[in-house]
Amino acid sequence: MAYSEKVVDHYENPRNVGAFEKGDDSVGTGMVGAPACGDVMKLQIKVNPATGLIEDAKFKTYGCGSAIASSSLVTEWVKGKTLDQALDIKNTQIAEELALPPVKIHCSILAEDAIKAAVDDYRAKHVQ
Ligand code: FES
Ligand code: FES
Repeated sequence: MAYSEKVVDHYENPRNVGAFEKGDDSVGTGMVGAPACGDVMKLQIKVNPATGLIEDAKFKTYGCGSAIASSSLVTEWVKGKTLDQALDIKNTQIAEELALPPVKIHCSILAEDAIKAAVDDYRAKHVQ
């Protein structure tokens, strides 16, 4: 199967790979797995407590090129967003941007789920 140019770009030059230091309570971590293929994605957001905006994001993905590209893309998309705006990112937008074929749609769902899990984790740590 041929990957789209954007998938190849993110796969070969993934943005924001890595993890934040443990114990930083401005970080929310989402870890999700894809039942369809067993791949795992860990996505973290770092929130500026003063502005409430996501100022940085990192990911580690053990998965296919589409999963890596999807997570790389969303770490770029969430930067500068509020938590609610981050929750509005839809897997369909990811799939469209990367021109994912139908069999790879679940990879973009994994990325959407990972953002939601990261936001949930951050909010659970900061119950107002
Ligand atoms: Fe799971 Fe490719 S088969 S990521
Ligand atoms: Fe399963 Fe990509 S995440 S094939």
